[in-house]
Amino acid sequence: MQILGIETSCDETAAAVVADGAKIRANQIASQVELHARYGGIVPEVASRQHLLTIIPVIEKAMAEAKASLSDLDGIAVTMGPGLAGSLLVGVNMAKAVAAAHDLPISGVNHLEGHIYANWLTDQTINFPVVCLIVSGGHSDLVLMKGHGDYVVLGRTRDDAAGEAFDKAARILGLGYPGGPAIEQAAGKSTASIDLPRAWLKGTNDFSFSGLKTALLRRAEAGQISSVADAAAGFQEAVIDVLVTKTVAAARELGVKQILLAGGVASNKRLRQRLVDSSPLPVLIPPPILCTDNAAMIAACGYYRLKAGRADSLDLDVIPSLKLG
Ligand code: KG4
Ligand code: ZN
Repeated sequence: MQILGIETSCDETAAAVVADGAKIRANQIASQVELHARYGGIVPEVASRQHLLTIIPVIEKAMAEAKASLSDLDGIAVTMGPGLAGSLLVGVNMAKAVAAAHDLPISGVNHLEGHIYANWLTDQTINFPVVCLIVSGGHSDLVLMKGHGDYVVLGRTRDDAAGEAFDKAARILGLGYPGGPAIEQAAGKSTASIDLPRAWLKGTNDFSFSGLKTALLRRAEAGQISSVADAAAGFQEAVIDVLVTKTVAAARELGVKQILLAGGVASNKRLRQRLVDSSPLPVLIPPPILCTDNAAMIAACGYYRLKAGRADSLDLDVIPSLKLG
């Protein structure tokens, strides 16, 4: 069963072809990073216009890479939310047009659920139940997954998402956009990381990163940062400490079989290593290219939804504030 996945929720225009929810036949990603870098962040209007210009060439490239034509497909999966309304609309309308023209079933996919399904694109075996930490630019959710499409949200961020915190910290340290990779790179040059506060929110599975960001800002404003590398390392360590400790504790308490990591921040090498080192359970993490936004994860998720008879009608609409669970 070959599914075309389409992803346009933020600043990547992506199309992929995935067979049987696992085998990537094509994975095309057109990044808008350079376009937005000059503004220091994503400009929604610029993003949706760029998706409009790029979506058809990206789908054509994906079909060429998969050596397939649209009539070889068995279904379409598209991100319907959460994300930027104008950007989501480009992908959803494109998907509906292809589905209508080729009489294909369509599935609207939750972007966060898609991130989790990047783990099905590796050759690791997944055994339910699992605890999954999804850390992206817009979300930090800790989720119990008991089966396909079966989620219980255990906790989420009360303020900034982990990726958002990385992006803001990078701005404070003058490291530019996107912040996550810049902080990771700078932290790699650190010799003595600075100590920053952690918000544990004990007794809950929730996260909070805005206090940490403010602490970094105060230090910068007071001229107390002598080494950007040491500040970046201290910040990175504080975020990772909380993410890893709370994820492992929740997994232990619930007695799950595995821990899954997902989302753009999951491409951070230090986070990957610390989670593996701290967990008594097997930890599954997709390769970095499948952690950041892509359409292969959307196709994989759509495959399981269509297989479970959860196709959508052509009335499918975007839900910019869609939640998981
Ligand atoms: O999942 P994603 O590609 O897009 C969203 O759904 O938001 O995540 C993007 C976020 C950005 O905030 C970016 O700074 C962060 O992931 N990120 C990283 C790294 N690579 C991307 N954060 C920390 N370390 C990285 N290596
Ligand atoms: Zn994402």
